[in-house]
Amino acid sequence: MMGIIGGTGVYQIVEMGDLKEKKVLNTPFGESPPISIFMLEDQEVAFLPRHKEGHDHPPHMINYRANVYALKMLGAERIIATNAVGSLDESLKPGEFLIPDDFLDFTRTRPFTFYDDRAVHVDVTQPYCPQMRETIISSGEKVDGTVVENGVYVCTEGPRFETPAEIRMYRQMGGSVVGMTGLPEVVLARELEMCYATICMVSNYAASVSPEKVTIDEVFEVVEEKKKELIHLMYNSIVNIPEERDCPCSFALEGAEID
Ligand code: HPA
Repeated sequence: MMGIIGGTGVYQIVEMGDLKEKKVLNTPFGESPPISIFMLEDQEVAFLPRHKEGHDHPPHMINYRANVYALKMLGAERIIATNAVGSLDESLKPGEFLIPDDFLDFTRTRPFTFYDDRAVHVDVTQPYCPQMRETIISSGEKVDGTVVENGVYVCTEGPRFETPAEIRMYRQMGGSVVGMTGLPEVVLARELEMCYATICMVSNYAASVSPEKVTIDEVFEVVEEKKKELIHLMYNSIVNIPEERDCPCSFALEGAEID
């Protein structure tokens, strides 16, 4: 089964499939949002809206552990996610997609591991599933719009946007885009030996990259405009992903604990 964690504005993918059921799961970390289970061609897919429906939860209040665990409980081995992001560089424009291959984690208050009672140190040399990234990138060739193949996702705690000094720092550190919801999701998936990759949709230039003030309305507007291409890209990626997992994700706990 494929799991989808949808950020802002991607619910329509459910409507492209054949809805089987919608349910809330009780996990050891709390309740999940309502998850829609549907068939996309011959694959079972579980869609989870990250912010709950109606965008109820701000980024620092999302129950990332319940979300990832619920998909695992349903039998998902892979997660494809979406994130709206600000661009740190003028050459990466609003409306473009980026498939990150690395991250910088500036979150501060979120529960970030499933393993509070034993020492588990997962390797994140390739934090995003290389097989899934390759599939998304090659699926992007048939989609209207630019898909940038690599980049570093910077995750802030939010919910405020960034200061110009922060954006300068992130750029100097090698960041490409900035968002508030990519972490700890990607690491939690790895801790459960699930594959995880994300499609970042550039919704704005980050603070001070353009002289304009950053507004959430602008973020929603661009996502709304590019939603069709985003869903097309997700659809193609899900259909094209090889059945066999061939990546480090499936044995992530090997070598992560002292024998
Ligand atoms: N900063 C942080 N998170 C975001 C942004 C941004 O500019 N745009 C969309 N999510």
